[in-house]
Amino acid sequence: MLNSKKLASANVEIINKFLDTIKSIGYRDDVLRKIMGKKFTRSENLYPRDIVFLRNHLIKNLPLINICDLFLFGKNVKFEEINKILPEFIIEHLIELEILNTEGGDKYSCPVRIGMMDGCYFIADFSGNTVHEAGPIPGLAQEQALLINIARKVAGTDQKSGAIFEVCNGSAMNAICIANQGARLFGTDINPRAQDYASFNAKINGFVDFDFSIGDASQDLPDAQFDIVVANPPYNAFVEIDKQETTIDPTVHGGILGREVLDYLFDNLDSMLTSSGLAFVVSTWLMKGEEIADPSFKRLRESGLTALIRGPIFAPDSLEGLRRLFAYVDPIEGLRDGQLIDVINQRDFDGVCWGVFVYAKGGTPTFESIYNIPTDASLLSPESHEILGKIAVP
Ligand SMILES: C[S@@+](CC[C@H](N)C(=O)[O-])C[C@H]1O[C@@H](n2cnc3c(N)ncnc32)[C@H](O)[C@@H]1O
Repeated sequence: MLNSKKLASANVEIINKFLDTIKSIGYRDDVLRKIMGKKFTRSENLYPRDIVFLRNHLIKNLPLINICDLFLFGKNVKFEEINKILPEFIIEHLIELEILNTEGGDKYSCPVRIGMMDGCYFIADFSGNTVHEAGPIPGLAQEQALLINIARKVAGTDQKSGAIFEVCNGSAMNAICIANQGARLFGTDINPRAQDYASFNAKINGFVDFDFSIGDASQDLPDAQFDIVVANPPYNAFVEIDKQETTIDPTVHGGILGREVLDYLFDNLDSMLTSSGLAFVVSTWLMKGEEIADPSFKRLRESGLTALIRGPIFAPDSLEGLRRLFAYVDPIEGLRDGQLIDVINQRDFDGVCWGVFVYAKGGTPTFESIYNIPTDASLLSPESHEILGKIAVP
């Protein structure tokens, strides 16, 4: 993994020239969005970067080794291929930052993934196959696309003088894509590397006022108010497997039912928002009927407008329900009989679903649960558009 401390010495001008080069070569976010919206679903278990890569090759008949190959797949690429694309001063700077490494004499390797969304760029790690190792900064997945889509629709893009806080910020891509460059960005993450990645990403996207800190959002959130709070927290249950050594991966595990960060956030959300503040959280939700079952949610429902733009609700012990809750229990051979069901029984809920929670502090207290057919992708159903239009800031 990249030594994230190196990022502090980045020359923003050179990095921007590098990103412009990537863009001009054809790694385009409108293509990415289209793919994520129309074709990509979680259940396919394909990473967006893989789909972009494949689709680019199919539609555009691109050469097999090109810059997309390098930055989407992290393959080692021959010097000559990169030298054809990037001027020397860019290559030198990338080597200084260790974004490019020289491997085995004639090849470069790249330890980070360069993502793009709504015209914003960000770097993250290649966490695809190493999701169980604590430490990587997760890259673009369809859940952020959906979260950003919804937040932009509701909040508009005029957050120039506003302050936006990303809980569990990782790369901070959510805040970066939602905010305009004049906004102040804040965030916290338990992974110290996130502070370096988020600051780098804010800088290369033109933000000058940002402050990302290291902290545990399940017990410490700022005593300050923001116009927007956004979160893609860890939400998978963590079950200690008997007789086996298991490790919590903070990227995905949020305590025994995945609720640790969410519960604390719900408890503190009201006081973190300005009087007309908005919050957006993407997660797998525990449901009771059509309502979010987390007890701390009930208070929010009474104090402002809340909506859940969600996918289908599954019984917790159905195949999909178990997958939603325990996607990262691995290996399962060590589980004792009934262990997962025992965990499920620890809390009062009867369904599990996927979706984005929207909270408008200044809105009339009410709750809407909207079934969004393509919730797993970044598209919104007509019903979702309608309710989001009602919440939208004029
Ligand atoms: C699913 S990832 C999302 C990252 C980022 N928000 C995004 O959308 O790309 C969850 C993030 O939560 C962070 N995290 C996990 N537990 C945390 C905690 N208790 N407090 C703060 N951050 C935490 C992880 O380090 C990781 O960056």
